[in-house]
Amino acid sequence: MQAVILVGGKGTRLRPLTSERPKPIVPVADRPFLAHMLEWVARHGMTDVVLCCGFRSDAVVEVIGDGSQYGVHVTWVFEPEPRGTAGAVKMAEEHLQERFMLINGDVLTDMDLSAQIEAHERTGAVATLALVPVEDPSAYGLVRLEDDGRVRGFLEKPKAEDIDTDLISAGAYVLERSIMDMIPAGREVSIEREVWPHLVGEGLYGHVHRGAYWMDIGTPERYVQGVADVLSGAVRTATLDRLQDGPVMAGADVDPTAVVAPDALVEAGARVGAGARIGSGTVVGAGASVDAGASLDRAVLLPGARVGARAELSSCVIGADAAIGDAAHVKEHVIVGDGVQVPAATRLPEVEVAEDAPAAEAPAATRPIAAD
Ligand code: GDD
Ligand code: MG
Repeated sequence: MQAVILVGGKGTRLRPLTSERPKPIVPVADRPFLAHMLEWVARHGMTDVVLCCGFRSDAVVEVIGDGSQYGVHVTWVFEPEPRGTAGAVKMAEEHLQERFMLINGDVLTDMDLSAQIEAHERTGAVATLALVPVEDPSAYGLVRLEDDGRVRGFLEKPKAEDIDTDLISAGAYVLERSIMDMIPAGREVSIEREVWPHLVGEGLYGHVHRGAYWMDIGTPERYVQGVADVLSGAVRTATLDRLQDGPVMAGADVDPTAVVAPDALVEAGARVGAGARIGSGTVVGAGASVDAGASLDRAVLLPGARVGARAELSSCVIGADAAIGDAAHVKEHVIVGDGVQVPAATRLPEVEVAEDAPAAEAPAATRPIAAD
């Protein structure tokens, strides 16, 4: 079967990580985020992939190419302006097969798509939505389900008083091509607001993925968590195969007195100095360096980043070629932009920042979690 993946979003909540690169190609552990998605659909037999692109598509094309590196063949579709989740797939209409999967390009997951496709074939549905339970459905599409799998109601971004189930749409749908007749051409159309509500009672089904890993990695906190989950194997990805022989890749220069946790990753060409501690969920990217006595936990160092002696990093992202001075502290989901120099002994964040503080209060080069 064919997979159509929507990769049009700007990823504003991950800035400055996404100032330099669009979200689909932000590295997650050892490869671009979209690579994990391509390898996931390929594992379920979908090697024919259509990518519906908008924002900064040039950079996505450059990194992903024809997809062969990830076991798929990619057909590219470009939108002149954002057409919305249904409008984007409408633009891809000429490439579509009779049955295909449509997938949001911003979730890290190992849901069993093969089982979902089987369920779709069994019920004869027009559309089968992947469903997962979450604690708070308010940021998602809430789905009310009958015992036989039919969808009784779909509410995008439900208000608190309307939440009566924990099941949400996980952003992966098996679709019959006939659904294209419901989507007007030439304008922005939301599949969540303009298609699903009309399909309730008309062939809209849900398939619940129990026990699967599923996370939208669109905030700094969830990005750091997602990287840690790839390294620990909490989510099944091809990265795990590379970690079979331990966290230090051939060609990395790690001092014998340094300590590296089993669920960390030190890439080829990286350097770790004497007595440094590379804790769980940490990535030291290619050409990055960690000086003596530094301590890192859930820190993501993009290629070429440098961390000074005795610095302490936790739950943070250090951009490509950025430099953290000696004895500096970087914590609490701060993202240091590419090439930024953080002086010795600096404390980031500078002040305790409440979760819902406006983004403008964050230091220019960095950004803790903020609503957006
Ligand atoms: N090509 C293209 N064009 N892609 C788009 C466009 C567009 O105009 N608009 C959104 N996308 C892509 C985004 O890049 C993302 O990968 C996906 O479509 C979903 O859009 P989001 O903006 O991330 O939506 P959301 O997260 O608020 O809600 C959606 O996902 C939830 C699960 O994470 C909905 O589908 C919800 O129903 C669902 O629960
Ligand atoms: Mg999303």
